[in-house]
Amino acid sequence: MTILFVSDPIVGGEEGWRKAMAERLPDIPFKLSTEIYDKEEIEFVLCFRAQPGLFAGMRNLKAILATGAGVDGLFLDPDLPDVPIARIVDPWMADQMAAWTTYAVLHFFRRFGDYHKQQISAEWRELEPPQSAPPRVGFLGYGAIGSTVGKALGNFGFEVSAWTRGYRELPGVSHYHGMEALPEFMAKANFLVCLMPLTLETKGFLNKERLGLLPNPAYLINLARGQVAVTEDIIAALQCGRLAGAFLDVTDPEPLPADSPLWSMDNVRITPHCSGPTNPETAADQVAGNILRSLKGDRLENLIRRELGY
Ligand code: GLV
Repeated sequence: MTILFVSDPIVGGEEGWRKAMAERLPDIPFKLSTEIYDKEEIEFVLCFRAQPGLFAGMRNLKAILATGAGVDGLFLDPDLPDVPIARIVDPWMADQMAAWTTYAVLHFFRRFGDYHKQQISAEWRELEPPQSAPPRVGFLGYGAIGSTVGKALGNFGFEVSAWTRGYRELPGVSHYHGMEALPEFMAKANFLVCLMPLTLETKGFLNKERLGLLPNPAYLINLARGQVAVTEDIIAALQCGRLAGAFLDVTDPEPLPADSPLWSMDNVRITPHCSGPTNPETAADQVAGNILRSLKGDRLENLIRRELGY
């Protein structure tokens, strides 16, 4: 029996994972996909993005343990085997994303970019917030991460609303669900925080028409996946003022090409898909736990619903 680890810059260093897994499951061999391994020995694959063909020949595969919160990268392999797939649901990761999003909202709401410009010219002058308080922050997607981020912003007194595909009990936020409710939700979201999973349904979701539903001013904050939005439509909306600003941790494509106009826009901030990196120290318990569950024939935790793609 062997655990195969597929390295990816987004999910933490392979040596950190090797150590974390050796501490928890010392008797199970751990191989990197860059090492030589026997496909028939592989029973568990830890993976964020699967190259097509990765799983071919793994006849004894028992489960795929995604090393990230989002599993869209696994579906890059059209022959994803029919075994249970679990993802990471890690409070540490969600808290880091809450911190990143708070910074992004405050960057615009407290006008830190403008204050930085004033500082360069030694100008001491208080500026008005871009909209009257409290800021209205709307979440597209409100799962384990969204609700943690929403709670963090709610603690500052911000007005938090959420839109989800289907109905769920979501105490403490104004909740909208279904496509009919989308225009009403968007119309109130001065700060639109995108935390939707990337699926066949959500690819290109934030297009020109939907960005056009946002109020004035509106700021886009995307820390989900770049492909959930249409890049040219974001650029056009920023250029014509439809969007007052954007804070993007994810882009389409990644890395963002050097000649993208987004790099040099004054009202855009870019970070390189780092808002919530997987931390093997905090994530390995659930991965090891799921391996033990699988070996005992128990149901895994944090299983994805393959038919939904997340
Ligand atoms: C990172 O993007 C993740 O899905 O964990």
